[in-house]
Amino acid sequence: MRIFALLASTVLALASLTAASQTSATAKTPVKAVPAPRQMVAQTPPMGWNSWNFFAEKVDDKDIRDAADQLVATGMKDAGYVYVNIDDTWEGQRDANGVLHSNEKFPDMKALADYVHSKGLKIGIYSSPGPKTCAGYEGSLDHEALDAQLYAQWGIDYLKYDLCSFIPAVMEKQAPDDKAEQMRLMVAAYAKMDKALKASGRPIVFSLCQYGWDAVWEWAPSVGGNLWRTTGDISPNWDRIYAIASQQAGLEKYASPGHWNDPDMLEVGNGKLTLAENRSHFSLWAMFAAPLLAGNDLPNMKPEIKAILTNRDVIAIDQDRLGKQGTRVYSEGEVDVWKRPLAGGAVAIAVINAGDSRYATHPFHLSLNQLGLHGPQTGKDLWTGKPIKLSDGQPLELARHDVLLVRIDAPK
Ligand code: GLA
Repeated sequence: MRIFALLASTVLALASLTAASQTSATAKTPVKAVPAPRQMVAQTPPMGWNSWNFFAEKVDDKDIRDAADQLVATGMKDAGYVYVNIDDTWEGQRDANGVLHSNEKFPDMKALADYVHSKGLKIGIYSSPGPKTCAGYEGSLDHEALDAQLYAQWGIDYLKYDLCSFIPAVMEKQAPDDKAEQMRLMVAAYAKMDKALKASGRPIVFSLCQYGWDAVWEWAPSVGGNLWRTTGDISPNWDRIYAIASQQAGLEKYASPGHWNDPDMLEVGNGKLTLAENRSHFSLWAMFAAPLLAGNDLPNMKPEIKAILTNRDVIAIDQDRLGKQGTRVYSEGEVDVWKRPLAGGAVAIAVINAGDSRYATHPFHLSLNQLGLHGPQTGKDLWTGKPIKLSDGQPLELARHDVLLVRIDAPK
């Protein structure tokens, strides 16, 4: 499977090199951005856990049950994390009737779904519109209706639908050298699964994963997408997280209740991220109204990671009922300043030091004027939990890759 995964990622990497050139070719493609009616799911960004970032191809039934148990035991469920999402590598073979079976790692998917539901949680699954998934397992091509019915029978609540082999097997095969037609085929494939999910009669969150190609944010709602990946894959290192964060600027107008930009699943607690980096990553995702899908090893979660993932104030920013994504208001050197409007006239401000040293940008002076705020402001520092006063031009000292995240309930 590793070889499959490598091949798949090579294809994706090559294809992403041409993504920029696709933009102009596909800009004229008449895809109407009319949101399709969908069951009331994902009215706030979905929260939960997904197996890929930590377990990747090694995940099995026990890991999923453990994750469900831990969501409850750690208080994450109470903080809002409800989806337990199985990513790639659960798929087995199709039988003579075309019905897909899970593989030996997942002996009884219905029983697993029942278990997850018995904890008051929801369960998600993964597939591809292509013949194979990214890791080389069975995809849904030509079996969309059957698969959607199967998910509904199992009690699945969420589907991540990952483009992968659809690119070489369908787009490039059927429309070589015609990027506009390739895009049309891709959009049609997502629309087909949306129709199948709706026909299944079960409310299922529909998560598009095609790495942000062809301005997916413009057309995803028209194919029933509740969330759509805006970039390639995340990895647990600051440079990648910061690159993805920077690529969210300008996408805020596409987010609204039921329709979210997805900068990929969380790496909080993974790799060698420092606490500051974990805080900044989580803060930015909250500013983006991003889905909060933890991707760490829950049974071995350190208390300081749990404290970050369960910070209720930060989660409240993410889940704010207004559903407006934050904007990068300005950058100065290595410091970025983001602002997010919240329900009831409140605002959240995030100041990120992307620089490698505390002093590289020191002193950074916060411009309240540029943030549209007038005079001194009183708010809450969401990482210390203490009140904070901000004034125009105030010097801020931020450690390497750290964040100041402030909520102002009554901005002036
Ligand atoms: C792609 C996706 C990842 C993950 C893997 C699974 O790379 O972007 O999030 O789902 O496939 O193979």
